[in-house]
Amino acid sequence: MRFVFFGPPGAGKGTMAARASKEFGLPHISSGELFRQAIRDDSELGRSVKDLIGRGALVPDDLTINLIHQRLSRPDAASGWLLDGFPRTIPQAQALSSIDPEDHVIDLEVADSTVIARLSGRRMCAACGASYHVQYQPPANPGRCDACGSALYVREDDNPASIQKRLDYYREQTAPLVEFYRSRGTLVPVDGEGPAEKVWDDIRTIMKNLLSSVQSR
Ligand code: AP5
Ligand code: MG
Repeated sequence: MRFVFFGPPGAGKGTMAARASKEFGLPHISSGELFRQAIRDDSELGRSVKDLIGRGALVPDDLTINLIHQRLSRPDAASGWLLDGFPRTIPQAQALSSIDPEDHVIDLEVADSTVIARLSGRRMCAACGASYHVQYQPPANPGRCDACGSALYVREDDNPASIQKRLDYYREQTAPLVEFYRSRGTLVPVDGEGPAEKVWDDIRTIMKNLLSSVQSR
């Protein structure tokens, strides 16, 4: 089954998609992580998007759609996937619906004040992509990833100016997708405000029900 994890920056898309990937065995495909990996690899793509991402601007649609198209063509995505951070413009959503249409869009609803609190304290693992928060989800050993032991870092775009810019882009370019997906009948709104365990319980229940309703057909 094909799930899009949708919502503003800091809504918890990456955190929840990672848990869902473990629980349901579907590949977690994060457009942001694919771009950050390209930056770490110093590839041509990485060099062309580095400044845009640091400033909190969106990468052009053609580059982004091409990247996701290639990733969805890999064998592990043939029988389902969890997309995180894509689509975030109407042209991207239209492209996805012609490449490999989504079954459901998990829309994590959170207030701007929550976004700011979450992104200001986020720490990331460069080696495995795991996400932590200094207050809400601290690692067992400060500064070290629980999963792989690597050093944690602060994302370049988790500074106040870039966070504000990302929120602005979300409102202008991405929020219109809520209506797009509602009208396709694939939108599943989820309250993303509670603690991570509560949000995950809600998502797990929703996904289990959706997956079992398909299996029982
Ligand atoms: P991307 O990496 O997708 O960043 P984003 O959308 O800004 O989202 P975040 O990763 O910041 O937030 P998240 O929702 O994953 O939250 P997380 O789970 O980490 O994209 C980065 C950039 O790449 C973009 O700005 C753009 O430049 C470019 N890009 C990517 N995709 C693109 C596209 N399709 N088109 C064009 N450009 C694109 O959680 C955040 C924090 O909160 C963590 O610290 C976590 O531990 C904590 N947390 C999570 N859930 C909870 C909870 N319930 N309670 C308390 N804390 C929580
Ligand atoms: Mg993320």
